Amino acid sequence: MLLTLPHLLSPADLQNARQQLASAPWADGSDSAGPQARLAKNNEQLPRDCAAAQAISAMVLAALDRSALVLTATLPKRVFPPRINRYGGAANHYGDHVDASIRQMPGRRERLRTDISCTVFLSDPEEYDGGELCIADTFGEQQIKLPAGHAVIYPGTSVHQVRPVTRGHRMACFFWIESMVRSDEQRRLLYEMDMALLRLRGQHGDSPETVALTGTYHNLLRMWADT
Ligand code: NI
Repeated sequence: MLLTLPHLLSPADLQNARQQLASAPWADGSDSAGPQARLAKNNEQLPRDCAAAQAISAMVLAALDRSALVLTATLPKRVFPPRINRYGGAANHYGDHVDASIRQMPGRRERLRTDISCTVFLSDPEEYDGGELCIADTFGEQQIKLPAGHAVIYPGTSVHQVRPVTRGHRMACFFWIESMVRSDEQRRLLYEMDMALLRLRGQHGDSPETVALTGTYHNLLRMWADT
């Protein structure tokens, strides 16, 4: 399931992020890519331990926690600490690749399965040309370029690329989510059911039917989820 998350970051968050990024220590981006992806990757990233990366990473994690849409769409079990990247100048693209399926959580013993990929846009589309996130999907190729503060989630299984940035710089935050529900298909059914129930309750209030269907939602989640 590919889903956009409008206004994930607040205007105040975004202003803070932009201030941090103005003097951030960009470095070569190949350190976090696997062997196949490294050949395709040509961008810059912030070192994980720099002040700007830590502040923006914490801000994005807090925004995820506030978002009911993120919770229902991803059913998160673990979130990989967000990284920040930049495309522009000579380091301006990331060719077709699939993200590594398993990642070591930094500084911890656990690993994370990358069920869901997420990109949070930190630059506005007017600030750069190119730089579309292109995701190959069963419905065809999706080209994503969102306003600053908006995010997109898409299946970790997708082949995707960031097209060359030909003017300006494109900054974004990226990370992965391991979901309690491994299957993208099951997650999508749960998301659609939850959203339909939300609308039903909004239109008609609670009824014996919405209570029963909410029970069915939770019983499906109980059947499919690993906590
Ligand atoms: Ni990727």
